[in-house]
This record gives sequence, C-alpha cells and structure tokens, in this order.
Amino acid sequence: MRLSLKTKFTLATSLLVLAVVTVVSTLYLARLMRQTLRQANETASFVAQQVFDASRDALKEAAERGEAPASSDTADVRNYVRHAFDNSSTLNSLIESDMGISPTIIEITISDADGRVLVSSDATLRDEKLAMRPPISSLVRGGLFQEMRELYGPAQTYEFSLPFQLGDQPFGDIRVGLSSALIRGQILPGLETAGEWALGSVVVSTLLALLVSTIALAPIGRISAQLDRISAGQFDAEPVVERSDELGAVSTKIVGIGKQLRDVREIFSTLRENLDQVMSGLEDGLLLFNAQGRAVLVSPSVEKFLGKQPREMQGRRVGEIFPARHPLRGALKIEGDQIAPAEGKEVTLEGSAGPRRVGVIAQPIGERGVRMGTLVTLRDVESRERIGRIGSELQVSERLAALGRVTAGVAHEVKNPLNSMRLWLEVLKANMPIEPEPQQAVRMLDSEIDRLDRAVKTFLNFTRPVELKLEETELRGLLEEVLDAARPSITKAGLALHADLPAESPVALVDRQLIHQAVLNLLLNACDFTDPGGKITLGLRREGEFAVISVQDSGRGIPPEDQKKIFQLFFTTRPGGTGIGLANTFRFVQLHNGRIEFESETGRGTTFRVELPLARMAEAPAAKEREVGQTLAAEKR
Ligand SMILES: Nc1ncnc2c1ncn2[C@@H]1O[C@H](COP(=O)(O)OP(=O)(O)O)[C@@H](O)[C@H]1O
Ligand SMILES: [Mg+2]
Repeated sequence: MRLSLKTKFTLATSLLVLAVVTVVSTLYLARLMRQTLRQANETASFVAQQVFDASRDALKEAAERGEAPASSDTADVRNYVRHAFDNSSTLNSLIESDMGISPTIIEITISDADGRVLVSSDATLRDEKLAMRPPISSLVRGGLFQEMRELYGPAQTYEFSLPFQLGDQPFGDIRVGLSSALIRGQILPGLETAGEWALGSVVVSTLLALLVSTIALAPIGRISAQLDRISAGQFDAEPVVERSDELGAVSTKIVGIGKQLRDVREIFSTLRENLDQVMSGLEDGLLLFNAQGRAVLVSPSVEKFLGKQPREMQGRRVGEIFPARHPLRGALKIEGDQIAPAEGKEVTLEGSAGPRRVGVIAQPIGERGVRMGTLVTLRDVESRERIGRIGSELQVSERLAALGRVTAGVAHEVKNPLNSMRLWLEVLKANMPIEPEPQQAVRMLDSEIDRLDRAVKTFLNFTRPVELKLEETELRGLLEEVLDAARPSITKAGLALHADLPAESPVALVDRQLIHQAVLNLLLNACDFTDPGGKITLGLRREGEFAVISVQDSGRGIPPEDQKKIFQLFFTTRPGGTGIGLANTFRFVQLHNGRIEFESETGRGTTFRVELPLARMAEAPAAKEREVGQTLAAEKR
C-alpha cells in the first residue's frame, strides 16, 4: 500500500500527539491513583483513631460504673470488655456514623488479640474470627504498576489496623476494611475525564495536521500536475508555483527542463524524419532488431525481398518475420529470437518475378561491449552487378548528400542550445562564489563548450553543400600547381620529391579548386607522416576510363587498427591535428564520382590512389551531381 505524503504527514502528527497524550495521561493517572489511595489510607487512619478514643472512653465509663472483670482470666476480661463496648452508645453510634464518612470503607471492627470480633459495623461478624487482610499501607508504598494490578485485578479487601492495649498487655486491634473495587470507583470519574481529553486532543490534532498538510502540500500537487503535462508533451511557459521558497525554485527548474526537453524532442523528430527520408532512398533492405529480437526499424525496400509490408513487420519478433523453414533462417543462423553475425552470405529467394539472388549481412550493434541489437541488410546481388560501378558510386555520393542533410540538421539544433548554455554560464560566472573549486568547474565548462562549438562549426562547414564548378581540365597542369603549393612544406620536412607526370595529360571534368585541395591534403599528410630523408612520389596516368592520381610516401604508414577510421571527420593521430583533411579529400573525390583507396604498410610507407572518370565518361554523372547540389542548396534555405 502506498501512502500519500499528506496521509503520512497527518498520520505522523497524530501518532506523535497520541504518544504525548498517552504519556501525560499515564502520569496523571498515576498521580490520581496515588492521591486516592493516600486519601483512603488517611481517612481509615482517622476513623481508626476516633474509634480508638471512643473505646477508651467506653472502658473508662464502665470502670466509673464500678464494673470489673470477674477474674483476670482472658475469657472474663474479654467478656468484660465486650460488655463495656456494647453498653457504650457513643462508641456504637460513632461506628455507625463513621461508616458514612467515606464510600471506600466497607466495615469497621474491633477484634481481640486472636482476631475474634468484639464489635463490628457488620453484626453478622460478631464473635467470628476475622482473617488477616493485606494492609492498605502496602498498596500506598507500591509502584504504579503494582497499584494498577491490585486495583484493576479481582476485587479485594484491604484494611487499616490500629493495635491497642489493656493495661500494658496488647489486647486487640481496631480494623477498618477498605474495598479495592470501591477505591477504583473513586478514580473512575477522573479517568474518564482524562480519556475524553486525550481522545479530543488526538482528534483535534489530526484535523489540524490534515489542514496544515493540505495547505502546505498544495503546491506539490500543482508541480506534479506540471510534470504530468511535461511527460504528455505539453510544456508550461511559466512556473506553476510563484513563490520564493524551495517549491518555487523547483517549479522554475521544471519549466527550464521542459524547455530543454522540447528542444531535444524537436531534434529527435527532425532526425527521425531525415532517417525515414534516407531509408526510403535505400536500395538495400534494412531490418534493425533490438536486443530482445524485435524489429524496431524496417526500411521500405524490405518489402521487395520478403514480400511483406514493412508496417506489418514493425515490432514483430525474429521468429515471426522469419518463420520455420524460411530460406533466410539458415543464413542468419536463427535460434529462438537471436540472430548470429553473418557476412557475405548469398541466398535465393522466391519472389513474384521469379527467383532472386540476395546477399545477406547481419551485424551486431553494441555500445561499450553491450550488445544492443542486430542490423540485417538484404542486398539485391544481380541488379547491383548490372548497375555496375559508376551507378553505385553515384549512389554513394547521393547517400553522402542525404546524410549531410541529416547531420547538418542536427548540428544546427546543437548550436542553439550551445549558445544558450554559454549565456547561462556567463550569468553563473557573475554570481559565482570565489572558492577555487566552482571557479575551476566553470572554466572547465567554458572550455568544453568552446571545443564543442568549434567542432560544430567545422562540422557545419563540412556538411555545407558544395556547388561544383566543373570544367574540362588537363590534370597534369593542375597537379603542377598543387606541387608548387606543397613544395615549401616538402622542403621543410626534408623530403625528396619525385613527380611522375606524363607528357600527354588525361583530361577530366572537375572542379579545379576542389581537386587541388584534395591532392594537396594528401601531399601535406605525406609530409606530416614521413621522417626527414624520406621520399614522396606524385604520379598521374590513364587506366581505362579513369585518370589515376597517386601520392606515395616512404613514411611510417597507417597502423591496421586505424585504417578504417582515417576518412572519418575529426579522426587524427597527429598532435595538433584536426582530422578534417582526409574527410574533405574523400568527399571531394566522391562528388566527382571518383574513388579513393590506399595501401599502407607500417614502417614502409603509404600510397593513396585517386581515380577520376575521364571527361568523355564523366558527362552524364556530372549532370546528376549538379542535381544533388541543387537539392542541397534548396534544403539549406
Ligand atoms: N600519409 C600518411 N601516413 C600515415 N598516416 C596517415 C597518412 N595520411 C593520413 N594518415 C592518418 O590519418 C589521420 C587523418 O588525417 P587527416 O584527416 O589529414 O587529419 P590530420 O592531418 O589533421 O591528422 C592522420 O592523423 C594519420 O593518422
Ligand atoms: Mg592532414
């Protein structure tokens, strides 16, 4: 059972009050009981003393009347005393009236030394032997718990006894009997009042606690509603609690969080839209399964391979998409809902247009060693072969352009929060305590934001669409210009240069500036990664329909583990490097429908090869490229 904060607060307050009231009532009860017992004891002692005086007078009167015991025999003395007592009207009426002095007294008796009754308020006891009863003083001296036990146990009679002598011999006792039940009756009214007070205060305090908690916790209810709205996608512009205390601050912060959440949502939906756009342009069928083996992403072209609508497959388990005896089960090594990694498998699928050869790739996707899912790619082998290389290169650059759109959108979205973070940081700086630690933290943040800002700017630059200014170019002349630009760096690095340029230059349709930059980047890298005394060779030749530019160095080479990454933006191993050079080179070559490859051996050197279509062949793709350029430009507006 979950208790609300209000209930807990009220309950805690009531329990606290209950505890206090219980303690106070117990103390009160103890005092009341002690007082009542003491009073009973005192009254009994007073009565006993009165009876004692009256019996002494009774004996004196008997002596004055000339009466005397028949002999000194105990029985005669006893008879004489009883006679004297019986004859004293003062004594008898005193006993009778004393019975009314207190409601707790049930009997007054005078007995002889053997406990045999001489005179009693209770006539039936006459000459009976009266048993000893516990003294009331033992009760008065006992502790609270003993008092309670005795008073609230079975009813019992206590007594107060006053011994008296005849001559100088102890003769008997004056005994006053008290009933525990009647003493209890004395206490009862006080107890009832105390109980009523206790109950009353608990009820009143519970009501008060309820009232206070309702008032104090009302803002929390509003804040909770505010949070509910945020999670439902509605974002408040103003805090719901306008106060200067902690709750007000919390509400203001929630508004801030809501704003950030909205930004993130927008980024996310842009990303999603862009992703859908990219996916719809893909020839390959993509299925992304999460760790539990459910399809979270199915690209439209999957339909062409599996004959089912992507919508139907979304959210389905592996076993449902590839049921028993499905031809792909073998290639994907499906067990339960798990898919084993596979690469380069070929399967023939029966489609509406006859059998079709399909390439299958299954890649595990993970983060920091934790497997998060599997990406299955289905590829039409035959049409790929048919389209041939130029077509696929074209696809690559189209995809590059599309990806550029995705990432540029994201970068823009990052820039705005970044700017507002920087503003807030300035405010923070101005209001900062001067202790070194927070100051240092703010400086850290500042420099991290700077770094991020620079990265985003570079990234935006990188993804900005390029308008190609294509012209038929003699590549030899272009390369000579590049060499002129690179020569100072080559000399400075202490390297020998060998240029292997043919007399009759291949002609390609290129953007001079971009190809200049692409080759220059390769040459500068060769300088950066070759120790003095080494050699750089720049080559140019024709191979079939392509012009091939090569840049070879005798430098330290690229370690195998880095080879996959060198074209990535920001990847660098050079101190002070930016990791932009090769990424740009790659992009520029792609924009020309060209191809870039490299071979490298650690310690021996690296050779980069750039292939560009010759002018005659390049015309058609170049026209297509311009189209891509235009889409990008339109997107930017
Ligand atoms: N000729 C080369 N020899 C060895 N490594 C190279 C060569 N060219 C590029 N690399 C590797 O590729 C990385 C990326 O290069 P690049 O994109 O030009 O960035 P940067 O020059 O700023 O490091 C380099 O840091 C280096 O590790
Ligand atoms: Mg470089």
